[in-house]
Formats: sequence, C-alpha cells, structure tokens
Amino acid sequence: MSDQKGYSPPNEMPRRPMASVLTGQKALVTGASKGVGAGIAVALAQAGADVLLNYNSDRAGAEQTADEVRAAGRTAVLFKADVGNEGEVISMFRAMTEQLGRIDILINNAGLQRNAPFDQMTMADWQTVIGTNLTGQFLCAREAVRCFKRQGIDRSISYALGKIICISSVHDVIPWAGHVNYATAKGGIMLMMKSMAQELAPLRIRINSLSPGAIRTPMNVEKLTSQEEFERQLLKFIPYKRIGEPEDCGRAAVWLASDDSDYVHGATLYLDGGMTLYPEFAHGG
Ligand code: BGC
Repeated sequence: MSDQKGYSPPNEMPRRPMASVLTGQKALVTGASKGVGAGIAVALAQAGADVLLNYNSDRAGAEQTADEVRAAGRTAVLFKADVGNEGEVISMFRAMTEQLGRIDILINNAGLQRNAPFDQMTMADWQTVIGTNLTGQFLCAREAVRCFKRQGIDRSISYALGKIICISSVHDVIPWAGHVNYATAKGGIMLMMKSMAQELAPLRIRINSLSPGAIRTPMNVEKLTSQEEFERQLLKFIPYKRIGEPEDCGRAAVWLASDDSDYVHGATLYLDGGMTLYPEFAHGG
C-alpha cells in the first residue's frame, strides 16, 4: 500500500448494508430493464421504496429487475412506455398514481447511444438520442412535477414535495468525439436540471443530477470484445482504478432521493472514480 507503484487496487466496490431511508416512498425509474436503471431500482427497493419499472423494448430484463425488487420485499409494477412519446409518458404517470397511489421520486434514467462520425450522423441517429435522452427526461420530469403538485407534501414521508434525479453522464462536461448527439443531450440535461431546480425550489421539489462515468453495464460491455479488453481500455481514464457498478449508482441515487440530502439541490454528483479529473495530467502537463 505504501509503495504506490507496486499497489494494484481491487477492481470491486465495498459491500455495505443498505439503510431503510426511503420507507413508504414510491419511485418511478425509467429504463429499468438493465444497467444503471436496474441497479438504481433495486437499491431504492432495498432502501424501502415501492417502484414502477419503466421499459421500452426489454420486457424480460424489466421482469428480472422486478424479481429483485420483490426479493427486497417491495412492490414492483412494470410499465412499457417510450419516454420520448408524450402520450405514453402521461399514461405511465397515470398508472403510477393508480397502482402505487403517489409518486415521491422520479429517476430520469432511460438513455441510449447511436454513435457515428459527425459527418455521417443521420437525422435518425440525432433525433433518436435527443428524443429519448433529453426530451424523454423533460416529459417525465414535467409529469412528475404535475403529480407532486396535485398530491401535496406529506412530512411523514419526506420533507420535500418530490425528488427528481436526472441520470446524466460525465459527458455533460467531457466532450465526446463520435458521440455528438449523446454529449449534446447530456449537456442539455445539465442546464435543464439546473433551470428546473431554480424554478421549482420554492415548491420544495428537489432536483439533482447523477453523472456516472464508466459503469459495468450491457451498453458498455457489448461495445468491446471482452471483459478484459473493456477494463483495459477504460481503466486508463479512471484514476481510482476500478470500473463502476450499477450498485454504485444505486447507492448514490438512494442518498440523493432521501432526506439525508435534503439541502442538496441543483447539484451534479459525478460518480466516476475521478474520470472528470483530467487523468492525462496526472504526471505533469
Ligand atoms: C457512457 C459510457 C461511457 C462513459 C464514459 C457514459 O455516459 O454511457 O458508454 O463509457 O460515459 O465515457
């Protein structure tokens, strides 16, 4: 440990018991069939929340997440909706109120990638990514705010009228060649989140972003040939020398959704093992 050069840190996260800080709360998680969304949904359930799991195409994945939510002793409701479609989003929030009675937490997570060199990026590549990753977050946040206002505050549940967590990315500040549509959407989320936070603070609606770096998700692992290659490529960009796990995102989201973070508002929490610290400057500029 003292000899930094000889020390190779474990590529695994610490295991800790989850505190029941969300007892009685109801959460809606978009894009909950796998990856970060699934990790967050399960963590919210372990902290005491019932969860509506949104998915668009991967029903089997969403069912797997539902099993884990139920194993934590909480209720899981599945709902298929394209978050970029206004009518489907409105129906989903109606189902949330009908089936779980209220909404306390929105995890605005659904996202995808359609990568291409800039001059080959098609209109469909552009619109698909902006439609899901940015417009989708707008539509879900707007419905959540409407629900929060209708249902009113209940201090026995939370000191906030409602909580919204926008799942962004380190690419809300790190430019990303070959992914201009994705970085544009994430950069947009940052100012959408801050502007909403500024406008809605007086209502006690608490809004923050969680910006993950490289997380071990299907979206990331599929891109590379093997697990070893995935790690070799990515660890170069991560000073803390471990890949993030969906559970890391889950734990951070639980904290941001709970009253433990009641004074945290309009903030972005980077969950990236230091990826945003310009690691290439670690040995001098
Ligand atoms: C992307 C990942 C990428 C990470 C770091 C995330 O937003 O979804 O594919 O590995 O940023 O570049």
